Amino acid sequence: MKFHLEASFRLSADAEKAEAVVSDFFGNAGPILQKGAPVGQGAKITAWKLAGSKIDLVIDSDRFVRAHDALLRLRRPLSELLGKEFRIGVRGLDVNKFEIEVESERAINHKIPYVREIRFEDGRLHLSLDVGPKGTLGQSEMENRIPDRIISLLEEKLQSSYGGKTEHWELLWESAPRPPKFTGDPTEEMQKAGWIKHGSSRGQWIYGPEATHVFRTFEKIVLEEIVEPLGYREMIFPKLDTWDVWKKSGHAQGVYPEIYFVCPPKTRDPAFWEEVMDYYKVTHEVPLELVKEKIDLPIGGMCYAQCPTFWGFLQGMTLPSEEMPITVFDRSGTSHRYESGGIHGIERVDEFHRIEIVWLGTREQVLAEAEKLKACYKHIFEDILELHWRTAWVTPWFMAQEGKTGLSEMSGAGTVDYEAVLPYNGNWIEFQNLSVNGEKYPKGFTVKSQSGEALWSGCSGVGLERWASALLSQKGLDTANWPEEFQKRIGKMPKGIRFL
Ligand code: SER
Ligand code: ZN
Repeated sequence: MKFHLEASFRLSADAEKAEAVVSDFFGNAGPILQKGAPVGQGAKITAWKLAGSKIDLVIDSDRFVRAHDALLRLRRPLSELLGKEFRIGVRGLDVNKFEIEVESERAINHKIPYVREIRFEDGRLHLSLDVGPKGTLGQSEMENRIPDRIISLLEEKLQSSYGGKTEHWELLWESAPRPPKFTGDPTEEMQKAGWIKHGSSRGQWIYGPEATHVFRTFEKIVLEEIVEPLGYREMIFPKLDTWDVWKKSGHAQGVYPEIYFVCPPKTRDPAFWEEVMDYYKVTHEVPLELVKEKIDLPIGGMCYAQCPTFWGFLQGMTLPSEEMPITVFDRSGTSHRYESGGIHGIERVDEFHRIEIVWLGTREQVLAEAEKLKACYKHIFEDILELHWRTAWVTPWFMAQEGKTGLSEMSGAGTVDYEAVLPYNGNWIEFQNLSVNGEKYPKGFTVKSQSGEALWSGCSGVGLERWASALLSQKGLDTANWPEEFQKRIGKMPKGIRFL
């Protein structure tokens, strides 16, 4: 990796009289420019020129001290020197040229902010950055580490398309292979029985009384077996996630292809919308192009991961040590994902129902809480639902949702997927997960502990559609075939809605 930077320091006055001192300074700047780098490496000043009230500099460097870091390192000692002896201040800096070379086996073609051109030549990508005063790479962008972010992005892109890294999946545990009581497709079966009907939207279902009762029974099991014994408190998390929330949760990095965007009207003045209303009244069609003109940019999207909005409650706060771990859950609304073409039945849907369990405390508390939850889940899936299920250590959900693969770098942090076999096609579906999210959320939302010790958190999503898919695909719809403990909890099935 190579950097070539041409920049100027802007001075408060003509500095011709300081020429000798400046020359001396740059001549002896080696230690500043090589600090932290292996011997003989780092940045060097290739040329410099004092021209009135400005100093032009050319810096060439390697990866060890990047040229923009070198430039920033020079600023303070230079201003101290000029200030003390000559009462001249360093007002700011301008970037005149910035070029980066990165080793690569192939060309890439991406639109990256601040990058004017990417050329591929002799096993290297040559980047020319857009420099100058406005909207381009200048002082504040240097200070905000924009060049480093460009390089990280580039490395990410080079890595991902080599296909070297894939989603992680590692079996942890598998239950006994309980023979299925049923081998049909539960969605088809529920449709035939009139338990569910397609909603009007993509991947959306209307659940009739029978299916709803099954969902509510799942909730009851979670309440009785987890929430009550472990002391989780119910909260209501918002179901519209703003960009601000997703910037802090990391979703802003990659969630776009999968979210339902939310746009407010430009104004709620009925007169502004009158044309739309009138068009509809006459044609009985909604004039979508016109609507598009009258709505504002999206403010965010509909609930996707369920726990991010909770963190607004704690944002910027310090938590008393004796109150931890804090354990809460939410079951107040739907989650929405724009799923791939493979939407199938209730197994993969765009609108789904989930109980989200969230806990936080010290690392030890969070890891211990995860073990308690795992024990409860095992009891539910083994003794109440009697599933053929397994668990796997997978790419953490918080990374996957940012478009990343691999495993978490925080030791002990990560996601366990719970999977159940679907006898009708032999596939395994993830019917819930449980994750230790490390410091990610407390850090992202600046939540601190009284003791100053790092805060960790965890979350677990119980997908009701997925639990139903797991149970009904293995046991069918005939309640007589349902496990005894589940039958006890389901009680009497409600009467469905019949049609003529
Ligand atoms: N928030 C986690 C997820 O979206 C658990 O529900 O996977
Ligand atoms: Zn979560």
